[in-house]
Amino acid sequence: MLTNKTIVLGITGGIAAYKAVDIASKLTQAGANVRVIMTKSALEFITPLTFESITGNAVVTDMFQTNAEHRINHVALSEIADVIVIAPATANIIARIACGMADDMLACTVLATKAPVIISPSMHTNMYENSITQENIAKLKERGFTIIEPSAGRLASGGYGIGRLPDTEVIIGAIQQTLGKSGNLKGKRIVVTAGGTQEDIDPVRYIGNRSSGKMGYAIAEAARDRGANVTLITTPTALAIPEGIKTVTVRSALQMKDVVVKATAKADVLLMAAAVADYTPKTTAKQKIKKGAGGLTLELVKTPDIISEVKGKFLKIGFAAETQNLLANAKKKLASKGLDMIVANDVTSKGSGFGTDTNKVTLISKDGKQESLPLMSKREVAEKLMDRVGKMIGKKR
Ligand code: PMT
Repeated sequence: MLTNKTIVLGITGGIAAYKAVDIASKLTQAGANVRVIMTKSALEFITPLTFESITGNAVVTDMFQTNAEHRINHVALSEIADVIVIAPATANIIARIACGMADDMLACTVLATKAPVIISPSMHTNMYENSITQENIAKLKERGFTIIEPSAGRLASGGYGIGRLPDTEVIIGAIQQTLGKSGNLKGKRIVVTAGGTQEDIDPVRYIGNRSSGKMGYAIAEAARDRGANVTLITTPTALAIPEGIKTVTVRSALQMKDVVVKATAKADVLLMAAAVADYTPKTTAKQKIKKGAGGLTLELVKTPDIISEVKGKFLKIGFAAETQNLLANAKKKLASKGLDMIVANDVTSKGSGFGTDTNKVTLISKDGKQESLPLMSKREVAEKLMDRVGKMIGKKR
């Protein structure tokens, strides 16, 4: 996805400048050609040598650089960029860009480019909330710039508030989303479920399962990065909420069903990777159940089978998590649940299934076509699925 993309990374003078090292490093590892531009103030916080070592490219710090090896035409980077991202972006660079200034290499590159520009503001809360900064941000949004909302937390000044640079994953997520806008799922509305449902026994205990949400999140991100409008319906997980994806958190199977029904009213695809409880306690105790002398018997009742019950013209893709007779059981579910495709998931195979970063699956479509994939990362599985979804959407309409 990022391979061979030229990403111009603008770094301005804020304490979060050190975090840009991680961004540059992860982008480079993902195969991008990262070209760094640092403002004069950024040089007060971190040195170009760090970025040159990480990216393998000369860092531009001055419009009038005379060193022949590093000399660069003042609009050269604006022309080769697939995307420009400024992280961290101070109130100062935001104001200069909003005014159309070109008084240093970074502002000049932004003014001259036709590539999409992403700005990740990072500054003291008062500066961020100042109406001047807010007006400048609103102006840039109106003009098509992508603004990443800063996160809240402890600030360099010692106080707490909004203004921190978000995690690298959020910034890279915004870059991938921007680059994928014209992908094969452009404008398609895709609903993805992830995680394991939690069925309450009492106010402190629930029946759950081992799903980490990794498979569902990987699918949601892969769809986003191909231009889809994604709604992710997730149970609570340890994963970061992905950038650019509408995310709704639910706990029980019943809650998940309600949200899936609403979200699929206008969907093109429903993809259920969530591990949904088949049974739930008949009643939930109002108070914590006390330990008694004997055992405890819980009466369980069936939950709705969400993917079978939700109706509409959209493509329905389910997963089958199996511990035996993988393909036979998956095919039965494909037919009984009325699915267009099922992803048969052997959850006993090494590196596959719950909690792992990898998965081993077989894609089975309702026309009988079957494709067994080798063990691969969950993101790679998600990409294979999205290739299929792209082809299937075309046929369904
Ligand atoms: O989250 P990870 O740790 O990354 O793990 C990924 C995974 C193993 C959870 C995932 O790859 C997977 O296999 N998900 C499906 C788990 C499951 O519930 O399978 P199932 O065979 O019980 O259900 C079949 C399909 O019906 C699933 O798409 C499920 O979402 C759906 N279902 C099940 C029960 C129910 N009441 N309603 C449903 O819609």
